Amino acid sequence: MALIPLTIVKIGGSSTENDEVIAALAMELRNLQDHGCRILLIHGGGITISEIQDKYGIEPRFIDGLRQTAPAEMPMVDMALAGAVNKRLVRLLRTQDLNAWGLCGADAGILKAESASGSADENRTGRVESLDTRPFEILWDNGYTPVFAPPATDSLGRGININADEAALALSAVFKADQLVFISDVPGVLDGSRVIRHLTPEVAEEKIGAGVINGGMIPKVRSAVGALDKGVGAVFIGDYTNPGDLGRILSGMHGTLIDSGGEK
Ligand SMILES: Nc1ncnc2c1ncn2[C@@H]1O[C@H](COP(=O)(O)OP(=O)(O)OP(=O)(O)O)[C@@H](O)[C@H]1O
Ligand SMILES: [Mg+2]
Repeated sequence: MALIPLTIVKIGGSSTENDEVIAALAMELRNLQDHGCRILLIHGGGITISEIQDKYGIEPRFIDGLRQTAPAEMPMVDMALAGAVNKRLVRLLRTQDLNAWGLCGADAGILKAESASGSADENRTGRVESLDTRPFEILWDNGYTPVFAPPATDSLGRGININADEAALALSAVFKADQLVFISDVPGVLDGSRVIRHLTPEVAEEKIGAGVINGGMIPKVRSAVGALDKGVGAVFIGDYTNPGDLGRILSGMHGTLIDSGGEK
């Protein structure tokens, strides 16, 4: 089988909320596809989950940047990620002639997961156990671009919330993606106000330990390092504020490159 390059793009933070960003990103993704690349777009949507929780008077809770999910909150996670954000993205991408097909971890049994604390009766934040790649192959083979939301299913058929960065790691590892890009609402991994241009796994853990990297950047950086370990070609973190930013990130002109031999 001929090897077709694969780029996995995970989009999160306020980038998912901005129509112009999505339209510009769509054009760049289409361009990559036109040049023979496969694309898998994964999204988070923590802002939307928090907005829905707020309507129910629920305060979001995080541990090391990972959202905690009580069983009663799982429908809100589905509503936000598999519902509102996924459909918004699919609609916008399709206006840019990207043949987007929205799906979540529950669909076709793509993502099997278990509660991270061992009890889904208490905690629906989970870890990926296994992943079925066939639905993506079917979509690519038929000219569709998968737009993936993480909510998954456990062995008893219950909904499990997977951090989108961890889902991106699982997917990029199983596909041995050529490149994995995290688009967030910060111009890269920051040390104070400075963007760290090259980040090594050692320095990443050091900066997490020192509290320089915190909150939602912890699972992102750890997923980036995990992806490198699993043989993903290159991993990038950046934001998308101007048309062409994806290309700039991929060419090292913008954002942070995570690799095993960078500068400090
Ligand atoms: N050293 C750091 N550099 C950059 N951002 C950092 C750092 N430490 C903490 N952060 C925070 O991490 C956030 C990014 O993670 P966050 O989980 O909020 O967004 P996301 O993963 O892109 O979106 P989603 O969780 O919706 O998928 C930034 O907005 C910033 O507040
Ligand atoms: Mg996040």
